[in-house]
Amino acid sequence: MARRYVVTGRNGQVAQSLIERVERHSEIEIIPLARPDLDLADIETIERALTEARPELIISAAAYTAVDQAESDAAKAFLVNGAAINEISRVAAKLNVPIVHLSTDYVFNGNKTSPYHESDPVAPLCVYGQSKLEGERRLIASGADYVILRTAWVYSPFNKNFLRTMLHLAASRDELHVVADQYGNPTSALDIADAILTVADNLLSSRDGRLRGIFHMAGSGEASWADFASGILRISAEMGGPSAIVHPIPTAQYPTPARRPNNSRLDCGKLESIHGIRLPNWQIATATTLQRLLAGGAG
Ligand SMILES: NC(=O)c1ccc[n+]([C@@H]2O[C@H](COP(=O)([O-])OP(=O)(O)OC[C@H]3O[C@@H](n4cnc5c(N)ncnc54)[C@H](OP(=O)(O)O)[C@@H]3O)[C@@H](O)[C@H]2O)c1
Repeated sequence: MARRYVVTGRNGQVAQSLIERVERHSEIEIIPLARPDLDLADIETIERALTEARPELIISAAAYTAVDQAESDAAKAFLVNGAAINEISRVAAKLNVPIVHLSTDYVFNGNKTSPYHESDPVAPLCVYGQSKLEGERRLIASGADYVILRTAWVYSPFNKNFLRTMLHLAASRDELHVVADQYGNPTSALDIADAILTVADNLLSSRDGRLRGIFHMAGSGEASWADFASGILRISAEMGGPSAIVHPIPTAQYPTPARRPNNSRLDCGKLESIHGIRLPNWQIATATTLQRLLAGGAG
């Protein structure tokens, strides 16, 4: 019988990627739980939806991810990213099933000059980061069997993301101005899905405590947003897709409601040494995503 993994959310980048990737694994069934059955803004829905799904493992991928909107909608962000994770964790502990929970590089303030380790102090600059940190803390305190995977700068053929925005803009503009003083690790959601499936397998195969806890999980190689945009549009041009000249600008010239860290690069060595996972380089994964999007005529 197939292993039943619940994933929270259905249309999100990671949920869609899991649904696609599991086609390669006949031994696993992914059960997406989404609104109205599971609404993270309605805590009452959570226990019933999770219990009825009879999961062997819960993948907690749904979140309030609108980083700028969260600044003026903090109560909702904390409800979905904090209180709902507390409830999911409580139910997971009750059902005695492990949780793989996704968190973010935005738990850091960016003052460090090198990539962040899991043990580095957290100090989020924005409401989104604070609410995701609250989710981490609630999960850790719950007594559930857990892995927290902090990831970053997620893109995919699905949903809204930076790669798709750049393609879309380049279809109608010759020049783009992109922030060049924030550094991170662009990460493919399809690679995240593969990594989650490996982590899940490791958790269900062994009680070893070293497999549990917080891990950083991002694409290999680093970039500024301007580097990432240039890479996307260079590869797109090579594939016959839209292209534009990218002009680097400082964050000060692109004010947003939410403050973001200048450095949110993640050191992913712990995930590699303990779970045996290293995500591909972002330029290679970007080419794979672009190939799909351009072949499908999407942008
Ligand atoms: N995107 C990034 O750059 C990034 C960076 C670092 C960490 N992360 C983390 O990685 C995880 C996955 O991100 P993603 O890029 O896949 O997110 P996404 O594409 O923005 O999708 C978010 C998902 O959350 C679901 N959702 C939002 N509010 C909900 C609610 N009240 N009840 C139920 N579901 C709700 C959405 O529901 P529907 O399916 O109904 O639309 C959607 O499936 C999140 O935990 C996020 O915080 C993302």
